[in-house]
Amino acid sequence: MFAIYPGSFDPITLGHLDVIERGSRLFERVIVAVLRNPNKTPLFTVAERMDQIRRSTGHLTNVEVDSFDGLTVTYAKMRQANVLLRGLRVLSDFEMELQMAHTNKTLSEEVETVFLATSNEHSFLSSSLVKEIAKLGGRIDHLVPQPVAPDIYKCYAKILPISVPKQDSTPVVEHPRTEFLPGMDKPG
Ligand code: PNS
Repeated sequence: MFAIYPGSFDPITLGHLDVIERGSRLFERVIVAVLRNPNKTPLFTVAERMDQIRRSTGHLTNVEVDSFDGLTVTYAKMRQANVLLRGLRVLSDFEMELQMAHTNKTLSEEVETVFLATSNEHSFLSSSLVKEIAKLGGRIDHLVPQPVAPDIYKCYAKILPISVPKQDSTPVVEHPRTEFLPGMDKPG
């Protein structure tokens, strides 16, 4: 059975990777599908995110990376996948995820949503949090797959001149960064 793991992955976190690894043990094939969403201003392009996911999942032989636009269920049917895989972190995820699952069910009877409870150590983790920490000059190496961290540091260094934190030192924030940057959720 094929499963689609749809999402924004801007960027992929260790929480996402945990779902992909566990999904790859449950399903014959897991297709990680990056949504091409013209309504969002992401930090990374779709091509960059796909590349990051590929570099993070190279050890998993039954994982494929793709992108899609439009409805997830339409893409799932096109790929002949009957399962949408989603991670559940905390209770607050549940409402939105259940709404999505029910909506998708009204769009396609054949496509089932399967939830995997994200492991405890990643239950607090989100792409937005990673971007906020990196934006403020903090370390994110322990939150994202190893090949992805340098991309994030580089990206913020490009946007604003920051000192890239060293492995074992507390980063020095050279000046406060309070402006809205691509890929960040606007406050409020
Ligand atoms: O990583 P995200 O941003 O939580 O992923 C959300 C995603 C991509 C799974 C969701 O927004 C989605 O499925 N979008 C495609 C449009 C769609 O199918 N909408 C109807 C179902 S809610």
